[in-house]
Amino acid sequence: MDWDEVYRGQGFFGGPPPWNIGEPQPEIAALMRAGKFRSDVLDAGCGFAEASLALAAQGHTVVGIDLTPTAVAAATKAAQERGLTSATFVQADITSLTGYDNRFNTILDSTLLHSLPVESRDDYVRAVHRAAAPGASFFVLVFATGAFPADTDLPTPNVVTEDELREAVCKYWEIDEIRPAFVHATLPTPPDGPSQFDSDEKGRQKMPAFLLTAHKR
Ligand SMILES: C[S@@+](CC[C@H](N)C(=O)[O-])C[C@H]1O[C@@H](n2cnc3c(N)ncnc32)[C@H](O)[C@@H]1O
Repeated sequence: MDWDEVYRGQGFFGGPPPWNIGEPQPEIAALMRAGKFRSDVLDAGCGFAEASLALAAQGHTVVGIDLTPTAVAAATKAAQERGLTSATFVQADITSLTGYDNRFNTILDSTLLHSLPVESRDDYVRAVHRAAAPGASFFVLVFATGAFPADTDLPTPNVVTEDELREAVCKYWEIDEIRPAFVHATLPTPPDGPSQFDSDEKGRQKMPAFLLTAHKR
């Protein structure tokens, strides 16, 4: 996936990326309502940064990191326009993140893990663990195996089984919970039939996922 091309609206989707739903993913919004975020927050693979912007609006200090200059520029502009001075955005490869040792009390991964090559997972999980303060929380929303039908035309990310997710994270983090969840997306309507996914109350597709909660020992 050429992420920057997608954010410029020139990639496979030919428009805004389907994972950008104009608000935080509902599973993440529920964590916010439950008061699970503590500053400073790292939004890993923030994209257009709906979660970072919502957290900053609640008074949190947030750093959003993404590989693509287009997403980082858009997130920076949105924060400026909304007067959110506690949100900053940095273009970097999260798998080799340095310079933030022990800084963050919450690490958020809203659909990043399945976007990384499988061989980069360990570098990523280790890098964000290094950036986490002792006792920090780690939340991961990730597509589950089976999220995409076998005959899908969509580009398929690196979905995980529960065991793969546990194995990827437990080397560095203490896992508290892995539970079934959903990623909500605005996928293009298939030209020759109904959507392959259930819809939510806003007409968005609901795709099977896991929500992992962990903490730094
Ligand atoms: C599916 S999108 C999720 C974006 C955002 N978190 C959200 O919930 O809308 C995955 C994001 O990870 C970013 N990404 C992929 N590989 C990355 C890497 N190595 N370092 C930093 N960001 C990366 C992509 O640019 C993209 O914005």
